[in-house]
Amino acid sequence: VPLKAEERNVTQDVLDLLETKQPLQTSEDFPSIRQAEIKAALDRLASRSMVEYEAHDSEQVLLTPEAESIVADGSHEYKVWKAVKDAGQVPVKEIANIVGAESAKVGQGNAFRNKWIKKDGDSLVLVAETVQDATRDLLKGIQETKTLSDNKTLNELKKRKLVTLTKVIDYSVKKGPKYAKEIPVEVTDLTADMLASGAWETANFKPYNFNALGAPQDAGSLHPLNKVRQEFRNVFFSQGFVEMPTNHYVDSGFWNFDALFVPQQHPARDVQDTFFISDPPKADKPRADPITEATMDTMEAGSRKLFAKPNETGDKPKSRDFEKYWQNVQEVHQNGAFGSVGYRYPWSADECLRLVLRTHTTAVSTWVLHRLAENPRPARYFSIDRVFRNETVDATHLAEFHQIEGVIADFGLTLGGLMRFLEDFFSKMGLENLRFKPAYNPYTEPSMEIFGFHKGLNRWIEIGNSGLFRPEMLEPMGLPKDMRVYGFGLSLERPTMMKYGVNNIRELLGHKVDLTWIKEQPAVRLEKD
Ligand code: PHE
Repeated sequence: VPLKAEERNVTQDVLDLLETKQPLQTSEDFPSIRQAEIKAALDRLASRSMVEYEAHDSEQVLLTPEAESIVADGSHEYKVWKAVKDAGQVPVKEIANIVGAESAKVGQGNAFRNKWIKKDGDSLVLVAETVQDATRDLLKGIQETKTLSDNKTLNELKKRKLVTLTKVIDYSVKKGPKYAKEIPVEVTDLTADMLASGAWETANFKPYNFNALGAPQDAGSLHPLNKVRQEFRNVFFSQGFVEMPTNHYVDSGFWNFDALFVPQQHPARDVQDTFFISDPPKADKPRADPITEATMDTMEAGSRKLFAKPNETGDKPKSRDFEKYWQNVQEVHQNGAFGSVGYRYPWSADECLRLVLRTHTTAVSTWVLHRLAENPRPARYFSIDRVFRNETVDATHLAEFHQIEGVIADFGLTLGGLMRFLEDFFSKMGLENLRFKPAYNPYTEPSMEIFGFHKGLNRWIEIGNSGLFRPEMLEPMGLPKDMRVYGFGLSLERPTMMKYGVNNIRELLGHKVDLTWIKEQPAVRLEKD
């Protein structure tokens, strides 16, 4: 990078002055050049061993504009005295017209006290033929030396707003071992010619500047949501959770609602709340899906390598009986089954096969739990992906968001265990002292909303929803009666907005997003609040 003109000058000026003066003092020898510029010039020379320098911190006393005018024209009391001396005598009410209001006010008192003038009737008359303007002399001395050793006087002058203190760095500079009158011409590239001729042996190569910042790279970058998502994935993975395949946004009412024991009259199943797909008009009945099944196999196999105990077989599920499941779901809604009285309404297969943009990732958890029923065993699953709700868009709501969801299946689970798990989970993002509020979900009983105290915002905020899945949901799948399943969900957007200090969700997602902002956001760590 070529030097700017003034930088080249400072560098050359330093070399020039070192010819005749050593060491030089930058505050003295280059008083009007900016600190940063001096430093840059010295570093440039020092990196070539052309100079050596030391920095010294010191404090300078500088005059205010008022003090500068006192040095130029004399103190207020001097001006009053001078006016009286020049005129022989001055009527008291005239003095402000001659010396100005400010000088008249401050200066008269001081001139009386110094016995320079006195009052005679209505006039000011002279007492001293000659005077010493001590204030002016004092300030003049400060102007020249930029110092004042008498602390008491210094504080007085500060109070009278005649001086200010500033910190300065002074560099004392001397010649280095490679000092020269000019920066020698430096070679920046090693060429084939130089190698062939041997010129490289004596060439003066420009030193590397390891402090230079690289040119900004026009590279891609992860969206803040993806950075926080990765943090959550790591929390789940570290606790033995297996990721669920959430790679389809469209699902049938069966997986999104019916299998979760959400009645067909439930308000969530209304166009007000849910986006329905009109083409194709309806879904197939639930059936085997080899691709998603294979994805899930791979995810579980990977996790088993890390977490399985020696006696765990990791048997693959047997083939699933979807027809039986379908009938059980219908039965539990319409007539009651598995010890439940059900809802007792005429259940409609058409309603069940309507296609929706999934309203929660619990649709996928349901699919995974039905799979688990073929080989029931303790298991942990999670997903973080997009869900869709027909909501009014405002500063904190969009019609789509990301849901973080976790599911834990085991024997002998209790509500207290769920609370303990959630406390542990949320503490990983700095949220302590959770509070749980009873809530309602058609598919969990009991259900709890989760609140956390956010230290930054200094208030309680709702951070998630949770519960133990109902027998009406689990038993139609064929899961054993004594198996319990925790479920919990939260949004990815909320912690991301908190981490990045974003108040409006539209700055994070959608067409108003500033791509430069996205690019410049640093990585985050969940545990650092
Ligand atoms: N599906 C719930 C939601 O949309 C979250 C949840 C998942 C609640 C699992 C309980 C169990 O908020």
